[in-house]
Amino acid sequence: MCKMKFVLLLCMVLYVTGLNEKQMKAAVKLARNMCQPKTKASNEDIEKMHSGDWNVDHSAMCYMFCALNMYKLMHKNNTFNYESAMTQLAQLPDSYRSFVKVCMDQCQDKAVTLNDKCAAAYELSKCMYFCNPEKYFLP
Ligand SMILES: *[C@@H]1O[C@H](CO)[C@@H](O)[C@H](O)[C@H]1NC(C)=O
Repeated sequence: MCKMKFVLLLCMVLYVTGLNEKQMKAAVKLARNMCQPKTKASNEDIEKMHSGDWNVDHSAMCYMFCALNMYKLMHKNNTFNYESAMTQLAQLPDSYRSFVKVCMDQCQDKAVTLNDKCAAAYELSKCMYFCNPEKYFLP
């Protein structure tokens, strides 16, 4: 699960202790720092998604794929990896766990554009946002 070097330290912390909220925020920031340069998603599009406007460029959709893929939440066929999500759920801070579970249950089938990994990740992420906009937790 923790194959990439840059997440090694994070993974160690995560599996030993679980994440507190500060560490969770750091993990989110790490994904943004990795995925934004990689996909060239604009600050504007990322901010739009965080404020409920999901009318964004394809590069921002690929940004969401990069993030979900980094968290091992995507199957190779671009559907949601629910089992991996449930395994990781246990590591989230208490304040996140129950609503994240509700949202993952609600959103697990929302990837429909399966021939485009970016669009599929975007569809999942958008559902996660609208499931609980106040507590949106993706990068
Ligand atoms: C995608 O792959 C997963 C895991 O291999 C499988 O459980 C699921 O049924 C597949 N879904 C589709 C639509 O192919």
